[in-house]
Formats: sequence, structure tokens, C-alpha cells
Amino acid sequence: MACSLVDNFGRRISYLRLSVTDRCDLRCVYCMAEQMTFVPRRELLTLEELDRLASAFIVRGVSKIRITGGEPLVRKGILTLVQGLSRHLATGMLKELTLTTNGTLLAGHAEALARAGVRRINVSLDTLDAARFRSITRRGTLGVVMDGLRAAREAGLHVKLNTVALKGITESEIHDLIVFAHRQAMDLTLIETMPLGDIGEDRTNQYLPLTELRRLIETRWTLTDTRERTGGPARYARVRETGGRIGFITPMSHAFCESCNRVRVSATGVLYTCLGQEDRADLRRALRGSEADDALHAVIDKAIQTKPRGHDFQIDRGGRPALARHMSTLGG
Ligand code: GTP
Ligand code: 5AD
Ligand code: SF4
Repeated sequence: MACSLVDNFGRRISYLRLSVTDRCDLRCVYCMAEQMTFVPRRELLTLEELDRLASAFIVRGVSKIRITGGEPLVRKGILTLVQGLSRHLATGMLKELTLTTNGTLLAGHAEALARAGVRRINVSLDTLDAARFRSITRRGTLGVVMDGLRAAREAGLHVKLNTVALKGITESEIHDLIVFAHRQAMDLTLIETMPLGDIGEDRTNQYLPLTELRRLIETRWTLTDTRERTGGPARYARVRETGGRIGFITPMSHAFCESCNRVRVSATGVLYTCLGQEDRADLRRALRGSEADDALHAVIDKAIQTKPRGHDFQIDRGGRPALARHMSTLGG
């Protein structure tokens, strides 16, 4: 079996984003609708299956795994999965085991995650204002996430904040967000909103191109582009006045698909070879069909060969989503 996974455009797949649930305790306005239908729990891969699947990707050269949701920390037994997968860190096969979380359950998990070998996590935070936090997330409490961030820091985890750029909101907060993140040695990554799933409103009203936001940032801060990368799509600039970094994730204004190194697996075991397309393969059937991994590897190989060149997201489809699938199906 060939060791590495290379697609038809010569892109080597080394990064798996593994969703462990499509559920979330929040309902962020750019991600979900108020009323969501979630996958019945019996359809989810078990923890053992998630481990087996992740391990099969590691055998094939995946060296970075990011656990996502929905919100990954709402999945029962999540720590068992992380602890189990950390054996691949010990062998050096896996270079990074990490997760992206909304932070609401972080206070109770940070210490155990750090003990299991997680070094760095990404936490979503779009605002520093409690009332606004409630209106963006529709149900969250900012203080709880702040407690989570504190716990992460105390546990020695490096934190990167993810802020989705939202028109009419982020402009007034960006300077405070930079100060807040960099004072605590956290990177701040800004993300253009992507049109996945019906969210019950027109996304054109939310979309704030990062070229515009960067112009605003540069009215107060001095940015120098760096070549530093963290393995994902962010391009970083360093802020001279703080010494910290700002990441820019620009799927809408500047696609980065040419250098894509990622695939995703949903909590039900569906492999999606691109966030912005429907190309997929059923890994659950291959997992359950045989105790040996040959069939699983065959399905993965075939799917990688059909990984599309990239997405064709556009924001101005009269507000209609590019894909019916919500962001929460795959956790971004
Ligand atoms: P690092 O490991 O810190 O580089 O993180 P990451 O950017 O890979 O992961 P994170 O979960 O923090 O994702 C941040 C944002 O980037 C989310 O909105 C994701 O949906 C988006 N993103 C990550 N990978 C891709 C991708 O391949 N395509 C697109 N269009 N968006 C992506
Ligand atoms: N567009 C861009 N980013 C999104 N996220 C959730 N929904 C969207 C969207 N429609 C972000 C979350 C989280 C990351 C995994 O993806 O804020 O930080
Ligand atoms: Fe990769 Fe698809 Fe994301 Fe482009 S949109 S970076 S090809 S996953």
C-alpha cells in the first residue's frame, strides 16, 4: 500500500479534520439556523470506530488531526478518544492532535486535554461584549468561555482565537480583539463567512471581506506578512506594536485551494474531500464491513483521487447557500 495520500492535483493530504458530533450547545448566526435537525445518535461512529478510522489515516501519512463538531466537547467520551489517539503522538506518527471548540465546556476539559498531549487549541470568539455574544450565539454566556480560556492558559495550552468577520460587528471590535488576544499571547485568526447551509437569513448582510477589515486594522496597527503557517489555511501577519500574530482565512476573497492539504470526516463516517463540494465516500460501511482495514484504505484511496480542485463559494447568490449542508456537519 502506497504510504501517502496524494490527489490528482499533486496535493498531499496530511491533515484530517474529524468531526465527532454535529450537535452544538450554541446556535451561532453564521453557522446554524435556530431550529436544527441533528443526526440520530445511533448513526454516529462509536469511539472505537473513530479511533480506528483516524489511525488508518495516520498509517497513510496524516500527521495532523483536528477534532471538530458541531462542538466536539459535547460528545460523551471525547477525552477517551483524545487519550487513545495520543498514542500516535508518542510514536511520532502524529505531529499534532488538536481541536476547535466554542469554549463553553473548556474549563472542565482543558487540564485533561493538556495531559493527553494536546498542545494547542482553537477557540471561537467573535465578540468581547456579553450582550452581543448572546445575540451572535443565540444562547451562550461570554463569561463561561472566558473561564474556559483562562483554564486553557493555566493548563499550558496555546490558544488561537477564531473570529468570523461579521459586517457591522467586527469593525467596532477588531482593535479590542487584537489587544485582548495578544496580551495573553494568543493568535487571532479572522475568517470570512462561508455560505454553507440555510441559516434563516441572507448572508450578504453578514459578509465582511478581510481586505476591508485589514485596511481598518492598518489604520492603527503595523502589520508585516510572515511566511509562518500553522498547517491550516490561515496566512499570518505580525503586529509590530504587540508582537502577536493575526491570521487571515479568506475563502471568499482569495481562495487557498491550490495548497489544500485537508480532508474531513463527518461524525457518521462520511469522508468529504472538500469543504465546499459534495464529493464524498462512505467510510462507515467499509469500517463495519470488515475487521481488516483493506476495504477502508481502498475507499479512502479512491476518494482522494476525486478530491475536487476547490470550492466555488460565492456570497451573492441572492443569499442562497452554496451547499445545503451546514458548517456544523463538518465543523469547518
Ligand atoms: P490551524 O491548525 O490553527 O491552522 O487551524 P485551522 O485553520 O486548520 O482550523 P480551524 O478549525 O481553526 O478553522 C478555522 C476556519 O478555517 C474555519 O472556518 C474553517 O472552516 C476554515 N477552514 C479550514 N480549512 C478549510 C478549508 O480547507 N477550506 C475552507 N474553505 N475553509 C477552511
Ligand atoms: N463561515 C466561516 N466560518 C465559520 N465557522 C462556523 N461557521 C462558519 C461559516 N459559515 C467557524 C467557527 C469555528 C470554525 C470551526 O468555523 O466560528 O471557529
Ligand atoms: Fe481544500 Fe476544498 Fe477548502 Fe479549498 S475549499 S481549501 S479545496 S477543502
